[in-house]
Formats: sequence, C-alpha cells, structure tokens
Amino acid sequence: MPALFSELAIRDCEIPNRIAVSPMCQYSCGPDGLPTEWHRVHLGSRAVGGAGIVLTEATAVEPRGRITAHDLGIWNDEQAEALRPITQFVREQGGVPAIQLAHAGHKASKTRPWDGNDPIAPDETDPDGATGWEVLSPSPDAYPPFSGDRPAMRKATQDDIEDVIDDYRNAAERSLEAGFEIAEVHAAHGYLLHEFLSPVTNHREDDYGGSFENRTRLFREVTAAVRDVWPDGKPVFVRLSGTDWLEDRPSWDIDQSVRLADDLADLGVDLIDVSSGGIHPAQKPPGGPNFQVPLAEAIREETQTEIAVGAVGGITEPAQAEALVRNDRADLVLVGREFLREPYFGLRAAGELEDDAPAKWPVQYR
Ligand code: FNR
Repeated sequence: MPALFSELAIRDCEIPNRIAVSPMCQYSCGPDGLPTEWHRVHLGSRAVGGAGIVLTEATAVEPRGRITAHDLGIWNDEQAEALRPITQFVREQGGVPAIQLAHAGHKASKTRPWDGNDPIAPDETDPDGATGWEVLSPSPDAYPPFSGDRPAMRKATQDDIEDVIDDYRNAAERSLEAGFEIAEVHAAHGYLLHEFLSPVTNHREDDYGGSFENRTRLFREVTAAVRDVWPDGKPVFVRLSGTDWLEDRPSWDIDQSVRLADDLADLGVDLIDVSSGGIHPAQKPPGGPNFQVPLAEAIREETQTEIAVGAVGGITEPAQAEALVRNDRADLVLVGREFLREPYFGLRAAGELEDDAPAKWPVQYR
C-alpha cells in the first residue's frame, strides 16, 4: 500500500490518509465573518476529492485579527453554528475537518489580494465599502515596509495580550462546537504570533520581547490555552515559519524552531506544520518543489521529543507526496495551490498510486 494512503492515528483521531488541504484564505465572507456558499462548495469539493484532512483558511479569533474584512471568523457563536454543516459534510466524505485559528497582527486590515493587498486605515474603506481598523502589533516601530504605509497600529499592552490568549481559547471552544476535530494554531507568515517570535518585528522590552523565552511566551501561552480546552483525544497542530529567510539581521531561524518544537511537544502539540517566511519583504526563500521540506525534516529529526511534522510548499505530484511520507521526511503532506487547480487531487493520487483506487471514490461517482 502506498505510504500516502496509510492511516495517520493521532490521539483518538484516525486520519484516513496523509494528504491535507493546506489552509487557504478565500476572502469570500462579508464583514460578519460568516462562511458563505463559496466555503461550503470549496471545502466540500476537496473533501469529496479525497483529502484526509480539510483545513479551513486562516480563521480569525477576533475581528481585528482578520487580514481583510472578508476573512472567515470564529469569534462568535453564529459563526460556529454556520460552520457546522461544513464540518459535517467533510466527515460524511470520510475526511477530518480542521480549523486554522489565526490573528493577523499588524498585517491585518488590508484590501484583498486582487484589490492590491494595501493597508486600510480605520477611516478608509476597501472597494466593497468595508471599513478598516486599528491593528495590533508587538512593536509598531518595527513594522516592515510592506506595501503602503501602515497608519493605525496599536502596541499590544499586557491587557491586549491577555485578550488574545482568551480569544484563542474561546475560538477553540467554539471550533469544537462547530464540529472540528483538529485545531491548528497559526504562528507563521508574519502574522501576530510570528511577529512576537521574530526579532525582526518584536522589539519589546517587557516579558514578551528580547530573549527566546520572552519572544516565544505569547505563542506558548496561546497554545497552552487551546490545548487546555481541546479534548485530550483530539489533535492540536501548529503552523510555524521554520525560518524568516533573512540572513542580514537578527531573525527567526531553524535552530530556534527546533528549540521551540521541544517546548510545543511538552505543551501537547501533536504536529508541526512547517512553512516559512512572510515576516519581511527582504526575505530570500529558495522556492521550487519541496523547498520547505528540509525545515520539516530538521524539526522531525532534531527535536528531543518525538513530534510529527507536516511538509508543505511546491508539492504537486502524487509520487512526490508519496516519497515524502515513504522516506520518513514528513508524516503529513499539505497541498495548497495544486488543490486549487485540482480539487480531486486525493483521488488522482489514489488513481496513480493504488490498484483499488475506485474504492476511494464517492459511491455516487464509482
Ligand atoms: C495561502 N496560504 C495560507 N497559509 C496559511 O497558513 N493560512 C492561510 O489562510 C493561507 N492562505 C492562502 C491563500 C492562498 C490563495 C494561497 C495560494 C496560499 C499558504 C498555503 O497554505 C501554502 O502554505 C502555500 O501555498 C504553499 O503550498 P503550495 O501552494 O505550494 O502547495
């Protein structure tokens, strides 16, 4: 049997194969953060398409934590209720529904990518008439020069930090109500938790800045809060940027990621989904197929405590995904853009790698 189609058992959760839909923002909500028919069809198609895990896009734990006014949210019960039919459908297709819990930090309040990805001030609106807001930052003075000025930034106070931790905890509780099996804490791509981790964006001099211990504190506290309310039988994942890809300044790198992975394992994290970059426009990622895999491998091999890893980035071919799992380079393969091009990527992979692939097809299509 192909390794890609071997079950991955984590705690009481049985993931039917090693293929996950990587979280991908759809920017298709109204300012209420409620899922729309788009989400239902988009996520539902990929469940029909054979993904073992269907991860939602970055889902904001509070309104300020949205990248755009069109992001999905999980800061109220109505949102949780509206997500329930989606998680139910994913389950009915044999997949495991997972949610990425996110706070965009100082990269929030922007126009959508197709409208330019520009920061919006609280007194401005995007092309759809949605207003901007003041964004939360570890250190407004350290905001990197992303497109356009960043007019309204608020330096996170101790109260703000406590609120963020509560927001994550409450969002996790609601996610459970909504029927998700896996909670993934988003700490990558230059968003709030990564902004605290990286010395590029964290110039604080309090308990949340400076040393490795201090810069990782918020992420560890958030993760502990999520783990605290997430049932023992269900997995918690985190997404990390394994490195900032910045060698010309103090930044976040793979050695710190490996060190942090040990702390995360102690906190009860089951899998680290290893991405990279996003903190500063001067980053120099290598790119190409499997370009982030060495980061996942380093975490898998160098942590003292055994922890599963997910590989993501430039994975487009079933044989490529199969090799990653078969050769013990990753426990899970997350596929992003290829799942946009081919919603049935999981079924295609089964067709290419397995003899009895039709058994994997939905009964309606066999
Ligand atoms: C993304 N990505 C992303 N990552 C994440 O952690 N949360 C998110 O919400 C998003 N949103 C998003 C939207 C779109 C349209 C794309 C294309 C990407 C990154 C994504 O999950 C993945 O890590 C990268 O796309 C690299 O994987 P692929 O696309 O090379 O398989």
